[in-house]
Amino acid sequence: MEKRNNKKRHFFRKFIAIFLTVLAFTSSASFSRTATATVMDTDVIFVNDSGSRVAVDKSDIIRSDVSMDGIERAEYDLADEELDKIAAESKRAAEDFNKRNNESGDTSHDVTIIDRNGNKRVPGFEDDWSLMLINKDHLIPYDYTFELATISGSVKVDVRVAEYLVDMIKDARAQGVGLYVASPYRDMERQTFVFNRKVKSYTDQGYDYDEAYDLASETVAIPGTSEHQVGLAVDIISSGYHDLDAGFADTEGGRWLAEHAPEYGFILRYPKGKEDITGIEFEPWHFRYVGTEAAKEMTQLGLTLEEYDEMIGLVDSDE
Ligand code: DAL
Ligand code: ZN
Repeated sequence: MEKRNNKKRHFFRKFIAIFLTVLAFTSSASFSRTATATVMDTDVIFVNDSGSRVAVDKSDIIRSDVSMDGIERAEYDLADEELDKIAAESKRAAEDFNKRNNESGDTSHDVTIIDRNGNKRVPGFEDDWSLMLINKDHLIPYDYTFELATISGSVKVDVRVAEYLVDMIKDARAQGVGLYVASPYRDMERQTFVFNRKVKSYTDQGYDYDEAYDLASETVAIPGTSEHQVGLAVDIISSGYHDLDAGFADTEGGRWLAEHAPEYGFILRYPKGKEDITGIEFEPWHFRYVGTEAAKEMTQLGLTLEEYDEMIGLVDSDE
């Protein structure tokens, strides 16, 4: 045990040294909004928010018995021929999308995204990234770039959000509520896979493709329109309840999040009764970072991000 701890400490010290060296080279550019994503694969999060750094053990944040690399474990049991086909199609679609839309033609990273019409659809969000509206009518702006913090492997979130997420989960734990990140940042390929899989579940039930597509889009965002794709949203589960369904709202974890998430800048993005506005069914597990001030205000006023952005003039109701 002691030996393992020493090994761990040694690895940690070595990593800190490498990290500080990398930081020294990148500090001027890494937090600029125009910088391309810098991804560091490690078992701890490093968050540099105005100079402060936080290191977190990944086991505090994710549960390996529930998800691996941000993919629900149950999916590993589903790798039949049909799912392999969906995965291959999704990979192709994502590559095509990136190729078509990345002006530089560089498909090696997936963070510079152009919208379907080749237009920047959301005005003013360079300065208001945390309030950026992403939904069926507001695609991810093509020139939006961001930097990811890595929790473990492909478990990543926007670096500006990581510290708040970690604080929220730690504080919940201190109060006896075990929360874990089940689904964090997803790239285009992954979002396409999740979406196509949902479409298939409906075509398997006998719906035609168009019906299946529409139904799927009420629960999984159409690729290019998911907050997961910009690292600003996370799906959270609690230790005793692993299903992403409406029942989560009535668990201790679901209740804690609904009450406390705004203190950390997160909102329950798809509330009950607002499905017509968000276009998405009630999702008590999906939390979106909007900043503490906006999160508290939205919660107090009972507004969705669609309604809030319209109220403050960030989006036009006629759009
Ligand atoms: N489930 C949410 C809507 C997403 O796919 O982003
Ligand atoms: Zn989600």
